[in-house]
Amino acid sequence: MHHFTYKDGVLHAEDVSLPRLAAEVGTPFYCYSTATLERHYTVLADAFSGQDAVICFAVKANSNQGVLATMARLGAGMDVVSEGELRRARAAGVAADKIIFAGVGKSRDEMAYALREGIFSFNVESEPELIALSDVAAGLGVTARVALRVNPDVDAKTHAKISTGKSENKFGVPYLDAPRLYTAARALPGLDVSGIHMHIGSQITDLAPFRDAFRLMRDLALDLRRDGHEIHHLDIGGGLGVPYHGDADLPPHPDAYARLVKDLLGDLEARIYLEPGRMIVGNAGILVTRVLYAKAGAGKRFTIVDAAMNDLLRPTLYEAYHEVWPVAAARASSPKSLQDIVGPVCETGDYLATDRELPAFEPDDLIAVMTAGAYGAVMSSTYNTRLLVPEILVCGAEYGVVRPRPSYDELIGLDRLPRWLSKA
Ligand code: LLP
Repeated sequence: MHHFTYKDGVLHAEDVSLPRLAAEVGTPFYCYSTATLERHYTVLADAFSGQDAVICFAVKANSNQGVLATMARLGAGMDVVSEGELRRARAAGVAADKIIFAGVGKSRDEMAYALREGIFSFNVESEPELIALSDVAAGLGVTARVALRVNPDVDAKTHAKISTGKSENKFGVPYLDAPRLYTAARALPGLDVSGIHMHIGSQITDLAPFRDAFRLMRDLALDLRRDGHEIHHLDIGGGLGVPYHGDADLPPHPDAYARLVKDLLGDLEARIYLEPGRMIVGNAGILVTRVLYAKAGAGKRFTIVDAAMNDLLRPTLYEAYHEVWPVAAARASSPKSLQDIVGPVCETGDYLATDRELPAFEPDDLIAVMTAGAYGAVMSSTYNTRLLVPEILVCGAEYGVVRPRPSYDELIGLDRLPRWLSKA
């Protein structure tokens, strides 16, 4: 469910017309809907309302300050994976004690920064990291709360590049090693290891892998307690999928997910932490692009638009499918033809959609690439010296440019010439 709908013949974000935004901001641009962000957060929060649960938005999915501030206002905590994301969460007004710091490669400087900020907990992924964190915390005279990330060796049945819970993935510690590591960690100064973390992957569209993982989490929590460890929180990760194909592939409803959590973990008297990213922000955002040219290829049409793989990498990197909608409703009735929607970047892999039966778009048409709110703008780059795409946040009939398009001078001005190449 989202708030991008046709009104008066053109696609709107809530009550703001996209042709108007395109005229005022230029293309391409990302556009986010506050109502959709709020709805997704609220549906999830309501689903968990009977449980002792904290929703920590996964900042990596969309780290725009406007989006983070929207989440913060709703009461969300945050899951961060770098000092940069931690700084963003704090700048958006999130209390430090609602922040979890995850990731396989936290540096000692990052650990110290997070400890000084007083974050809730670290999700630690290896024995050397436990030792490093203990050392940093003891050096600062503080205690770091820790959940050990355990790799349950569960197949999330998602794209290989976004599957994280198989034993061959780099994430977490092996399930069978966990009891030894909890005991080893108890002997380290500066640590309070009182949580368990699992995250098995992203864009998961079936509850079964979650069920397998939560069962293993439950067993581990009981085993650890039997061994005398105090387990106060269970971080169940993120990963719930979104419908990239419209209604054709609806992921499990948050209510069903919450029921599963309650059934398998609800009696353990541990606070549940969730780290959803995509399900909150995925279809709350679109990428709007303008058609530059249309040309006939051998057997199919190429619609060349002004957005490219550097702006939305998902199709290139994961063969990801994003629906493509014409902004003018009337265009939907143009004859359809087999086509690729491609960008100006000099790479064969530069496409936003391939082999689609879509209306024959014409130059100047506006196109919306749907469900681009998660892992869209955050993964963009300036490849081909293209300017980062601006981001717009809509709220009702209002909009704010939450990241302006930089100028070429700003982009090129980031570089410096070394002494021997500078003019005297
Ligand atoms: N927690 C951890 C430890 C994670 O690694 C991730 C995502 C999340 C939470 C949030 O997962 P979500 O609820 O968004 O599925 N760039 C890829 C997705 C990478 C996901 C990385 N980790 C894509 O565009 O599909």
